[in-house]
Amino acid sequence: MYNTILTKNENGTLVITINRPDKMNALNKDVIEELGSALEKVYSDSEIKSAIITGAGEKAFVAGADISEFLSLGAEGGAALAQKGRELVFDKIENCPKPIIAAVNGFSLGGGCELAMACHFRVASENAKFGQPEVNLGLIPGYGGTQRLTRLVGRGKALEMLMTADMVGAAEALSLGLVNHVVSPEELLPKAHAILQKIHTKAPIAIEKIIACVNESSNGDHHSFDKEIIRFGECFATEDMKEGAAAFLEKRKPVFKGK
Ligand code: COA
Repeated sequence: MYNTILTKNENGTLVITINRPDKMNALNKDVIEELGSALEKVYSDSEIKSAIITGAGEKAFVAGADISEFLSLGAEGGAALAQKGRELVFDKIENCPKPIIAAVNGFSLGGGCELAMACHFRVASENAKFGQPEVNLGLIPGYGGTQRLTRLVGRGKALEMLMTADMVGAAEALSLGLVNHVVSPEELLPKAHAILQKIHTKAPIAIEKIIACVNESSNGDHHSFDKEIIRFGECFATEDMKEGAAAFLEKRKPVFKGK
């Protein structure tokens, strides 16, 4: 069905694997379009409750945007490339009402680091390496990297990484808060699946509202506290909230329906 990505529904989690291992899974036009289409499925298919994004092969998650597409672009073309990528993929991941985790299995550079950062959170294998080396090409990140990296690791470390192009390894990424867990390569996908299976047992409408509230906070929305109150109230109108509270009082496990 796709040429540059693989998708598989595993227990309600759509595993999306970027599949250009001979090109370090670099994001060319086709990958961006196919990722956009896979994300549409995550949004619209009720059998899909979450997603994992990972890279094929043992070396790379994604080593950036495909540099071979850059030389023909001018200012307008460059801006359009970034705009399209954000709309089709990066912002769509961040704003997805279902959880999306990056399982970072190797080099996560440039657009690859931006892709991982757009996900709701990240797990990494011990061989993962993160960096924003655009400055080596006379460029800056265009898929939200200057913004999301600053939010995740703070201004000083973000400026250092962006201006030196230095990579950070998995252990440092963990200490910086860039990733939540570091595991062996064999444990990477099982760890991501285990986290998502736990989230699948929770109330989907509450999950959706948590993502929206946290995104509003990290995107500097001045009304984010007030919006939390509105969404808190909206939860009381759901069947799942009544079920959750009743199950607690009856000392049983809740059965949530997403209603
Ligand atoms: N865009 C296009 N092609 C890329 C690519 C990218 N971002 N990253 C890697 N490739 C290609 C290489 O050109 C090479 O292709 P070839 O076999 O046809 O020559 C292939 O992937 C393997 O990469 P190679 O550089 O030979 O592997 P390596 O193990 O020596 O180095 C990296 C791995 C990731 C350190 C190195 O490929 C790299 O620095 N990539 C670019 C990272 C970058 O600047 N990203 C930001 C882009 S904005």
